[in-house]
Amino acid sequence: MTIQRAHEEILKLILAAEGGAEQIEAAIREVGPERTAHILADELVNRADLHEIPGQDAAPVDIQLALAFDGATVGHVIRAGKSAEHEAGRAEEPHATIEADLAELLRAVLGPWRAPEAQVLRIVWHDLENTERLGGTMHVFPVVKRLVRGTTGRHEDLGELSLRQGSDKWGLHFYTPHYERHFGPLRDRPLKILELGIGGYGNPASGGGSLRMWKRFFPRAVIYGVDVFDKAPLREQRIHTIEGDLSDEGFLQSLGRDLGPFDIVIDDASHGNSDLIAAFKSLFPYVRPGGLFAAEDLQTSYWPGYGGSSRELSSPATSMGFLKTLLDGLNHEEREHPEGHEPSQTDLTLTGAHFYPSLAVFEKGVNAEGASASWIPRQKMSYEEMSAVDWGEGLTADHADEDGGQ
Ligand SMILES: C[S@@+](CC[C@H](N)C(=O)[O-])C[C@H]1O[C@@H](n2cnc3c(N)ncnc32)[C@H](O)[C@@H]1O
Repeated sequence: MTIQRAHEEILKLILAAEGGAEQIEAAIREVGPERTAHILADELVNRADLHEIPGQDAAPVDIQLALAFDGATVGHVIRAGKSAEHEAGRAEEPHATIEADLAELLRAVLGPWRAPEAQVLRIVWHDLENTERLGGTMHVFPVVKRLVRGTTGRHEDLGELSLRQGSDKWGLHFYTPHYERHFGPLRDRPLKILELGIGGYGNPASGGGSLRMWKRFFPRAVIYGVDVFDKAPLREQRIHTIEGDLSDEGFLQSLGRDLGPFDIVIDDASHGNSDLIAAFKSLFPYVRPGGLFAAEDLQTSYWPGYGGSSRELSSPATSMGFLKTLLDGLNHEEREHPEGHEPSQTDLTLTGAHFYPSLAVFEKGVNAEGASASWIPRQKMSYEEMSAVDWGEGLTADHADEDGGQ
């Protein structure tokens, strides 16, 4: 199955998961109950971090999923051993069975998060009385508990996820608290996220820490990662990698055209000043209203080796110099332009800019609040002059109300 088709399937399920029963059932029928079970099992295994359980690799344990749909039961087995694998079917002697309604499980795993401890399933332990078998497989309890945890609405801390998934966004840099602030409100939405720079450079199987971090932080998002090296071995359900050189203008343009629009774009690639500027110019137009563009490692704006400068701080050829030019665009409607001025597309759609050490986050929207009325004096007035102005009936009536109609 192509990655594109796999993403279409999971997107269908993600969108259906916040709809009504009919919509959910129709999506399951379209994707197929077995394929839906596979997708959900993959999410549960991903969220469970089974490799962290002490002794989990001593003996594999088989967890049977028994998922009711359309009067039948879909079987899927998760085998947790040295690594966790799963496939359609029935285990001969499962250590535990998780019974659930397939549609309810879909809602719990891919829908907007439920209450933190909501239960949508029943667990059957098969070896409670069989002490001999249970003895060597006691880790079945934490395995099942962690799988079940993936159906609840527990929110994980982004800094912790960064550490665990191997990204440098916390620890080397300290970006995650800022990302929590800006990305947190979007967390439970169906999103399309693009990150430039996957990590690990020429080693195809190395890197991908931040892609895995975003996947966990945004349980309903599809994540696209771009790198100049082939990173195909890092692909997972909801993570797609694309190979290409971001300093190639044509490739940069094709990203937005072929994959956009995006809810979030993060630039963590070469950190060359001209590359960041080109990425912003090409991809900010493909950020959806309400979405965000984040630029990382802006310290290189001051490093000549990256095309930056510590002397010419306002040069628009440096990252920070260029980003600073955007700030006046926030107030483009208020600027006085004797010789006329056409606002740029960025002026018209940049609605917020936030700067932190080495990081900036830009908000996209419609920047058209309207300029201050022409009769408002552009000359600063003294308090005496202000007091002499007749501010009109409307204002005095409002104040009268506040004063209890006095
Ligand atoms: C700092 S790492 C990304 C780290 C990752 N985002 C994380 O937080 O785990 C930068 C990556 O950008 C890639 N890169 C550098 N120059 C590039 C270019 N011109 N086009 C695409 N990728 C590039 C490198 O191969 C490297 O893997």
